Amino acid sequence: MIKYSTIREKLKVESLNGNAEDLAYFTHYLHNHKNGISQSYEKRAKDYYQTIKEELNIVSEQELQAMLPIKWDIPFPAPEQSEFTFIDLFAGIGGFRIALQELGGNCVFSSEFNYHAQRAYELNFGEVPFGDITKLNTDIVPKHDILCAGFPCQPFSISGKMKGFEDTRGTLIYHVFEIIEKHQPKVVFLENVKHLVYHDKKRTLATIVQHLEEMGYVVSKKVLNASDFGVPQNRERIIIIGHKEKRFDFSKIKKVSKPILKDFLDNENEFEFLNEPFTILEEQKTQVSGLIFAGYRNKTIRKAGVRPGTEHLSRVHKQPNRIYSTEGVHPALPSQESSGRFWIWHDGEVRKLTIQECYRIMGFPHKFELINNKSELYKQIGNSVAIPMIKAVAEQVKIQLLKLK
Ligand SMILES: C[S@@+](CC[C@H](N)C(=O)[O-])C[C@H]1O[C@@H](n2cnc3c(N)ncnc32)[C@H](O)[C@@H]1O
Repeated sequence: MIKYSTIREKLKVESLNGNAEDLAYFTHYLHNHKNGISQSYEKRAKDYYQTIKEELNIVSEQELQAMLPIKWDIPFPAPEQSEFTFIDLFAGIGGFRIALQELGGNCVFSSEFNYHAQRAYELNFGEVPFGDITKLNTDIVPKHDILCAGFPCQPFSISGKMKGFEDTRGTLIYHVFEIIEKHQPKVVFLENVKHLVYHDKKRTLATIVQHLEEMGYVVSKKVLNASDFGVPQNRERIIIIGHKEKRFDFSKIKKVSKPILKDFLDNENEFEFLNEPFTILEEQKTQVSGLIFAGYRNKTIRKAGVRPGTEHLSRVHKQPNRIYSTEGVHPALPSQESSGRFWIWHDGEVRKLTIQECYRIMGFPHKFELINNKSELYKQIGNSVAIPMIKAVAEQVKIQLLKLK
């Protein structure tokens, strides 16, 4: 059996050197050649194969067929027994994929256009995602049970005409709707920042729900917090679930008590300590969210316009100044942040979370392989999802909507 690592080495898959689309077809074909949905990828994969067969040392198509299935020596291979299928849109580094694969899901299509995220995805799942969704030929998307999309929080203003689909033209969610309309998945599973609830006087969310309903889905939605699912992070996200017949019941999702950050920290690593003056408050109160505001950097203290009694607050109006205690939870890891941003108060010192700690408090398993680029790693994890939260929702989707155990 040929190993995936041999293929990726010979084809230099890792560099994604201008051939990402060919590799997307080829790797999707390798994953799906046996499950009856390979036709979406087969022709382009085989055309590409003609150009690379010498590198692979395989000369005939029979030999290509004979090498299938390949041995998936990657951190997150597909489950041996597939119980349902899903697609991973705006896949990022694959948070949805890890959660759904753990529940027996087989990913039959992925899309993500960021080069670094594509590299991380390929490294962990042995699949190069298809690129820009706005340029995607939706015919190649195979039939699937669950459509997953942690779509970007790109704000969009609707025309206000409450025309659903039409109102979203020119936005990324419009392309998700196109796929739903064409392939009619049993379940639609969307995730976004909490702010989506309030955006544009709540009209944006209403438009999304309205259009899903127009396409025949019964929709339910709820804001969930990652800290209720076993990770010490105050990360609130809206989850939207649509199904053709049944209303998804969020109350059945299993929650656990909030863990604390200090139980998730590295004992040893290259820590980045704060080497400038800071203040630690004597009295530290736990907020409802589980955050404990411990102090602040003394830098950029606002002097003008500070009301008596609010001196501490004025020092922390900028998030990078805040220091949080590890006896509580950590604030949400921000997206598009390349330096980690928050400071933590731990064992009498102030430092930042390490990259490994960031991935841990998003629930990424230890075996998740990190690409070699620190600022990208911070950005990618901030963009991702808290895996245990997605898994807890998906578990109930499986039971309630797919009628699987
Ligand atoms: C909020 S993140 C989702 C991350 C993902 N759920 C994860 O677990 O890592 C949104 C992702 O959409 C990608 N994206 C934005 N516009 C896109 C487009 N036009 N086509 C494909 N991907 C896009 C971004 O690069 C980003 O990785």
